[in-house]
Amino acid sequence: MRPVRLMKVFVTRRIPPEGWAALARAADCEVEHWDSDEPIPAKELERGVVGAHGLLCLLSDRVDKRLLDAAGGNLKVISTMSVGVDHLALEEIKKRGIRVGYTPDVLTDATAELAMSLLLTTCRRLPEAIEEVKNGGWTSWKPLWMCGYGLTRSTVGIIGLGRIGQAIAQRLKPFGVQRFLYTGRQPKPQEAAEFQAEFVSTPKLAAESDFIIVACSLTPATKGLCNKDFFQQMKNTAVFVNISRGDVVNQDDLYQALTSGQIAAAGLDVTTPEPLPTDHPLLTLKNCVILPHVGSATYGTRNTMSLLAANNLLAGLRGEPMPSELKL
Ligand code: NDP
Ligand code: DGY
Repeated sequence: MRPVRLMKVFVTRRIPPEGWAALARAADCEVEHWDSDEPIPAKELERGVVGAHGLLCLLSDRVDKRLLDAAGGNLKVISTMSVGVDHLALEEIKKRGIRVGYTPDVLTDATAELAMSLLLTTCRRLPEAIEEVKNGGWTSWKPLWMCGYGLTRSTVGIIGLGRIGQAIAQRLKPFGVQRFLYTGRQPKPQEAAEFQAEFVSTPKLAAESDFIIVACSLTPATKGLCNKDFFQQMKNTAVFVNISRGDVVNQDDLYQALTSGQIAAAGLDVTTPEPLPTDHPLLTLKNCVILPHVGSATYGTRNTMSLLAANNLLAGLRGEPMPSELKL
């Protein structure tokens, strides 16, 4: 009998049990992984991928030309346990004929729930209010104390009416939002119809929205999109929320807008860098709520993401259709 040649798979982190079990069951693969919950150092990653046929990575692993060169010609599939693919050098990957798997849809609900939580937390000033209870600042019920901004009859602007953008709009509708605006690469009349959302220019969205939610992908066109000009166009009572990627926002400009009263408040689930250094100026502001990139962080969602990432990888290695393949 001829010995069976196993395909080498490299996994850049411990992944949740369902995904791990799927990989462990794959008799045609030899799986190596970075056995830690912390990111793999670049040097270890470069060493680990050598000769790999498949790579399962996370959004915090930069897959660039250097890493692809280190991996060598065996590499046929990259599967990322994320829907965002801005950490992958897609042009370079495409040139090499490598297939890419990612995890859309399975995290949409969890991320939209988190976006709602962050929006309500920010516009109703919950971290400040909780702190006042603890520090004795709560002295009595006062008419204008701890007031924020409500969603009823408001205008909400969504940058990127994709899967998550639409799921956020669905959740916002029952709150009595009066008008939805959105931007994107082109109008999406079918998707927008459910919310009677209007496709507008970015300056119009900035100027007319009471709440702005960034839910687009990070691309060269969206990098730095929310900058000084953008914040200057916003109402000074408006609240800005970003669940996309930190690089869509110019954080220095956001800091200026928040400290000068140009805008009311901001809620960020994503920053640049991640983690944000604990001495970052944005962390000194009461009107800025920052979360550690937890949009998809439910046990169920992360498990499902890991399983989808494993199944994408295995299907790709076996030359089969992947459950979720990125079209390059
Ligand atoms: P989709 O691909 O469904 O949506 C992406 C949206 O971005 C599309 O509507 C697209 O517009 C829009 N877009 C692209 N270019 C531009 C542009 N120049 N201006 C405005 N909008 C633009 O992806 P998902 O909804 O599934 O995910 C979106 C992003 O959310 C991910 O890429 C990821 O970065 C982030 N994310 C963050 C999470 C978190 O934990 N905080 C969790 C999950 C995702 P068009 O429709 O015209 O193509
Ligand atoms: C993604 O999948 O892109 C998120 O940022 C994390 O779930």
